Amino acid sequence: MKKGLDLLSSVKSSLISDSVIQRRVQAIGQQISLEYRDEGEEYPLVVICILKGAFVFCADLIRTMHLPLEVHFMAVSSYGDTTSSSGVVKIEKDIDIDIAGRNVLIVEDIVDTGLTLAYLKEFLSDRKPRSLSICTLLDKPAAREKEVKVDYVGFEIGDDFVVGYGLDYAQQLRNLSGIGILKPEIYQEDEE
Ligand code: IMP
Ligand code: MG
Repeated sequence: MKKGLDLLSSVKSSLISDSVIQRRVQAIGQQISLEYRDEGEEYPLVVICILKGAFVFCADLIRTMHLPLEVHFMAVSSYGDTTSSSGVVKIEKDIDIDIAGRNVLIVEDIVDTGLTLAYLKEFLSDRKPRSLSICTLLDKPAAREKEVKVDYVGFEIGDDFVVGYGLDYAQQLRNLSGIGILKPEIYQEDEE
């Protein structure tokens, strides 16, 4: 498996630049702020950041939002260190607050097959939140296996494996400031 600088040089061009991401994040943050503005005082928004991939996006997003909110974290896994979904979703870390009667916003990095979010949505709905919405930075509609309603989408992208801005390949490359496509040779090599 390629690691370190070798892996870094395997990212094919920048798909979405840092500045384009920042502008879009700003716009989504404003939209969300407007939509929750009237309820914010009585029902501070519960933002749930899905670790690890969404941590960079979520950190930027909440700083563009002007309303009372809390940030909590969940970790789920559906992937090993490969690039295709195993279809099995496991809650690795749960939130430690009661969301009954609260407005909840799930912040995710990317919707691929949709299996993770479909599962999470059902899992959290059972706790009877006042509302439950989903915000994802990236959406890969072509890869969808399970339909799930996403309320806020940063960018729709093609069916490529992407890295950077929080998204990883085998835990690396999260630190790239923009989003790039990982050369398929890399994971094809690893799958052999
Ligand atoms: P889903 O259950 O197939 O929708 O997978 C969602 C999760 O898979 C995301 O939260 C990511 O962690 C991971 N994932 C899916 N596609 C990519 C990608 O292109 N790059 C990095 N991670 C991805
Ligand atoms: Mg993820």
